[in-house]
Amino acid sequence: MQDILEQLEKKRAAARLGGGQKRIAAQHGKGKLTARERLELLLDEGTFEEWDMFVEHRCHDFGMQDLRVPGDGVVTGYGMINGRLVFVFSQDFTVFGGALSEAHAEKICKVMDQAMKVGAPVIGLNDSGGARIQEGVASLGGYADVFQRNVMASGVIPQISMIMGPCAGGAVYSPAMTDFIFMVKDSSYMFVTGPEVVKTVTHEEVTAEELGGAISHTTRSGVADLAFDNDVEALLMLRRLYNYLPLNNREKAPVRPNADPASRMDLSLDTLVPENANKPYDMKELIVKTVDDGDFFEIQPEYAKNIIIGFARMEGQSVGIVANQPLVLAGCLDIKSSIKAARFVRFCDAFNIPNIPVITFVDVPGFMPGTSQEYGGIIKHGAKLLYAYAECTVPKITVITRKAYGGAYDVMSSKHLRGDVNFAWPNAEIAVMGAKGAVEIIFREDKGDPAKLAAKEAEYKARFANPFVAGARGFIDDVILPHETRKRICRSLVMLKDKKLENPWRKHGNIPL
Ligand code: HXC
Repeated sequence: MQDILEQLEKKRAAARLGGGQKRIAAQHGKGKLTARERLELLLDEGTFEEWDMFVEHRCHDFGMQDLRVPGDGVVTGYGMINGRLVFVFSQDFTVFGGALSEAHAEKICKVMDQAMKVGAPVIGLNDSGGARIQEGVASLGGYADVFQRNVMASGVIPQISMIMGPCAGGAVYSPAMTDFIFMVKDSSYMFVTGPEVVKTVTHEEVTAEELGGAISHTTRSGVADLAFDNDVEALLMLRRLYNYLPLNNREKAPVRPNADPASRMDLSLDTLVPENANKPYDMKELIVKTVDDGDFFEIQPEYAKNIIIGFARMEGQSVGIVANQPLVLAGCLDIKSSIKAARFVRFCDAFNIPNIPVITFVDVPGFMPGTSQEYGGIIKHGAKLLYAYAECTVPKITVITRKAYGGAYDVMSSKHLRGDVNFAWPNAEIAVMGAKGAVEIIFREDKGDPAKLAAKEAEYKARFANPFVAGARGFIDDVILPHETRKRICRSLVMLKDKKLENPWRKHGNIPL
């Protein structure tokens, strides 16, 4: 028996060593942790249960029969994050550059299948040279098996991707189908075709970092949600994100004990919005002053900054926040911001039951005009946000802080899109458009008479630039004082705790993609 135990320990040690000490040192030399070190940081201490440590590839081509490493380049299993179950896979770059073989893919599929059965999220730590070149189509099949599972798991369990090294070619499409993508600056990149192919085909010269690094994807493409300085920071932040998420579509998001009183008032909010309606202010101030302990986990903070999205808690309950940002492009909706917010609303809504309520803070002058927006398809992309809000059945609370003009008023979680509780601050302006623009259209014939136009503008303002016209129709449930925003939202959430609303049966809708 002793022999067997020793043999087992030997096998385990070999697996733990991955591609060997030299390659581990090389990994560290690049400022990267190994697959196992990453899991140690991500999971609660001592909770990792590893599976398939002894799996090996089955390739006999190109001398591969003599090159087998137990585990085959990916560490898989399950563990806990703050006491909540999670399934994980962590690609080991020290073994064949983390390249995906048929066996490697089977390991990933196994944890995904089990996660679906028990209802727990999957986190993938990606660090891979892509398809295992020696295996050819077997490896491509392995990728497709993972893709299919990504799609089946979408909306059933949360899926999160952390890109911690190369992720290129078709390999990018598995992370792309997960709910959130985090990247590490300077050591990770994602692209469909690398710099050399780009140079050959388009004659553009670009580095891997410029083409698909963390900064590019969190500021320009919007493919990734957050970029971090190093592996440690990225993994610790991933643990934080995890705390907001439900485990699956049958379970509620976790409620954390919290000492921030629901009735806490913030008088400074009464002067947040400047007197001059064209002056910007920082909507993040309102968010931070409203949510529990000022703790806001922003998603995509560097992309389409004219809209803010992220997670927070109200009386301990996870909520999703969507807010126009008047500091950027006056908070208008354009293609990027519409897509950004639509995807987030759909995430909050995906997990059934009143799981992650959506709180929307509105100060929106309308959709962005211009040829680049129209040619880029703002009609279709703006419709995504409209569709997402209209389809959404989780509790929806809306607070209009200033402007809610035109179609954007309708889109931003209005009463008409089944907003449950719609508040406005006393200075809110809910109208088809701003007074100046409106008067220039209705009284076009008075263009040469500025005094008359000014009088008409003042009249329009007095008539429409307030929340009471909407209030008179019940489109606004109440006009509230800014300093009591937190209290009113908390009360609404309690009222909405057991909300039930179902959309009619259908196979699936046809969101304007
Ligand atoms: C097999 C691979 C590999 C791969 C890397 N290795 N990628 N082995 N299949 N795809 C091996 C290397 O041979 C090397 O082995 C070790 O991993 C480390 O690689 P290095 O090149 O030394 O590391 P580095 O300089 O950091 O470069 C990393 C790299 C580069 C940029 C990822 O290795 C690379 O370009 N690899 C090929 C990438 C690629 O073309 N993949 C296929 C993409 S197409 P030794 O023994 O020397 O340590 C694809 C399609 C997916 O993925 C389709 C899905 C539908």
